[in-house]
Amino acid sequence: MLLGKGKSSHVFRIGGGQIIKVFHAAVSEEMIQREMAAATLAAAHDLPTAAPARRTAVDGLPALIYPEVTGTPLAATIRKYPYRASALLGEMAELLAAIHDRRVSGLRTVNSVIETDINYGPAPAALKQAACAYLATLPLPDHLLHGDFHIDNIIIRDGRPVILDWAKAAIGHPAADMVRAEMLMRFGEGPADPVTALWRDWAAGRLGRAYRQHSGLHREQLSLWRPVVALAWLRARPSVRDRAFHAYLNRALARAGLPRFVPV
Ligand SMILES: Nc1ncnc2c1ncn2[C@@H]1O[C@H](COP(=O)(O)OP(=O)(O)OP(=O)(O)O)[C@@H](O)[C@H]1O
Ligand SMILES: [Mg+2]
Repeated sequence: MLLGKGKSSHVFRIGGGQIIKVFHAAVSEEMIQREMAAATLAAAHDLPTAAPARRTAVDGLPALIYPEVTGTPLAATIRKYPYRASALLGEMAELLAAIHDRRVSGLRTVNSVIETDINYGPAPAALKQAACAYLATLPLPDHLLHGDFHIDNIIIRDGRPVILDWAKAAIGHPAADMVRAEMLMRFGEGPADPVTALWRDWAAGRLGRAYRQHSGLHREQLSLWRPVVALAWLRARPSVRDRAFHAYLNRALARAGLPRFVPV
């Protein structure tokens, strides 16, 4: 039975309390290895997540077997109980701060991911160069970062959030992960009609405020990462809310003294 699907996989319930995540053929071996390593690491650090049980293959496609997390995805929970959204976003922020509390080794750095995405993205050469020089001045601590912290990667089990999908995990500064979570909330996949867009902007604000409370990070520390994470986001950006996203990107670039991005 199909339990869910994402951009890179189909997930089926296979009985015995387990699920199988079957990756699309285009998914790289590196990404699967990273998901396995990071999910194992996160579970070993006592984070609420599922550690992969084993690697296998289905009709020649790579697959991972996990214990099933029984519950309802956060996105569906919020749709069903909108009046609980504020409290749920608070819990989501607490979970992100708990992930960032873990100091780890053995994963790629978020700085290298951002640099690659900027360089393969659509910005003009001068902006790429200035942004990479700016990125090189930002710190590189060894916090665990999830990399894809959005409401479809969280399941509410017994009222508490459980985080899945570690394929984009990295090591680095927590602010890089939080500003990416803010962008996923506001400009990521999903409905973007005017009313939902307003809701998503509000939700990103609520998530950010709660995150700052739990992590002790300041607004200014988050702002430092916004221009480079937003520029990196241009590489594989879903085409929703283009104008709002470009305004957001250019505000962040201006704040850092970087050139404007002019979409063609
Ligand atoms: N261990 C699990 N227990 C229960 N449901 C799961 C589990 N793993 C995944 N799912 C369901 O399958 C969906 C897709 O899984 P996952 O997010 O890992 O795949 P993906 O293809 O990498 O997604 P993305 O689009 O975020 O890249 C999840 O949103 C969730 O609903
Ligand atoms: Mg997912």
